[in-house]
Amino acid sequence: MASATNGFAGGGGGGGGKRVGPLRVQYYIVMGAVAAAVLLATLRYMPGGPGPASAAAAARSRPARTPVPTPVGTARAEVASAADEEEEERRRKREARLVLFNFGDSNSDTGGVAAVMGIRIAPPEGRAYFHHPTGRLSDGRVVLDFICESLGTHHLSPFMKPLGSNFTNGVNFAIAGSTATPGTTTFSLDVQVDQFIFFKERCNDTIQRGESAPVDERGFQNALYTMDIGHNDINGVLHLPYDEMIRKLPPVIAEIKKAIERLHKSGARKFWIHGTGALGCMPQKLAMPRDDDSDLDEHGCLSTINNVCKKFNTLLSEALDELRLTLKKSTIVFVDMFAIKYDLVANHKKYGIEKPLMTCCGHGGPPYNYDPKESCMTSDKYLCKLGEKFISWDGVHFTDAANGIVASKVLSGEYNIPRVKLASLMNTAKSDD
Ligand SMILES: *[C@@H]1O[C@H](CO)[C@@H](O)[C@H](O)[C@H]1NC(C)=O
Ligand SMILES: *[C@@H]1O[C@H](CO)[C@@H](O)[C@H](O)[C@H]1NC(C)=O
Repeated sequence: MASATNGFAGGGGGGGGKRVGPLRVQYYIVMGAVAAAVLLATLRYMPGGPGPASAAAAARSRPARTPVPTPVGTARAEVASAADEEEEERRRKREARLVLFNFGDSNSDTGGVAAVMGIRIAPPEGRAYFHHPTGRLSDGRVVLDFICESLGTHHLSPFMKPLGSNFTNGVNFAIAGSTATPGTTTFSLDVQVDQFIFFKERCNDTIQRGESAPVDERGFQNALYTMDIGHNDINGVLHLPYDEMIRKLPPVIAEIKKAIERLHKSGARKFWIHGTGALGCMPQKLAMPRDDDSDLDEHGCLSTINNVCKKFNTLLSEALDELRLTLKKSTIVFVDMFAIKYDLVANHKKYGIEKPLMTCCGHGGPPYNYDPKESCMTSDKYLCKLGEKFISWDGVHFTDAANGIVASKVLSGEYNIPRVKLASLMNTAKSDD
């Protein structure tokens, strides 16, 4: 069994018997890799972070989006306050329709895998923002959290988190370790879409009974459907020769396409689809033994892996072009995450980052500070100072600081096809009528 290959000490991989505690967590997170456990399954990307991150707690820790108008005692102020109330009412209506549904892996998991697998994510996870572990695999927020904040809504609750969830602004179906390809991971994209349809039907049942549901029909129709998946599928093929890796990509893209079509059939009209990041710049990949440095590019990233990622994104973008022709009255946006994340490495100085290829929390020290047999949560780690800016938190997942930079680029619209801003999609109804 290649159980120890994942860099996460392979707790349950079958090799060394069951381990409890933080190591086990890492195992589940990387479960995709472990499942595929042949040889270089080590490569598996564990995007996103599982964990008991509480969206409600997150919401509490953030200031309210719009200050409530303060009543003042004069007649003029009363007129003004009537106007304010109308504005407030309009704002409430706007917000009531602000709904997101997210599908993905650890890059956008806000606590799903931790809840469903009963994993206890331990410090220092969460230390930079929430100040306690939240189930996310990061020292803070994932990109999706920043997206929610930019819209003035609370962080999305994981579908399978039983305590403290609030689904009025949508649901996060992302589970760390998930693939787009069915069969290889438990919560693959098709299952996540099944769960969405289940949720939607239950909401309808409730409404049919005359009760209120977290999301109503209009909410589903106007919602934004976001996806950030594919990293684990790519990880699963990285042990193959280049041509074969490339041949394995179209079926993955086909799954993403199918998921979008199913969502569209159920009434979804606005899609926001992230491509994959630059996996060849991740410490987890860079720390793998190599014969020589000939594959490293000018910024120290692995060209072959990055080329696979770029190809994946090209194919995904083309698939979305096709969908724009067939799925009527919908907006489908592609976000070039590779360009965003590669730029972060290439121009790291501009962002105040000293060591773009080294993890903040890992083992072994420079140059990569990544040991596949250890996790960020185990002792004797080499942990960067709080406030020191790193891209990589644990070798696979980004820090709060890096995710914040990535999110600002995602929201800028400059890396999108078409070049629309996410916020603009939230204010327009897009329906068949
Ligand atoms: C759920 O979130 C909405 C806003 O998104 C808020 O108005 C509501 O009070 C929250 N419900 C609970 C029980 O926290
Ligand atoms: C909601 O349920 C009713 C009754 O079961 C059904 O007729 C209707 O089509 C459903 N609506 C949606 C949007 O699924």
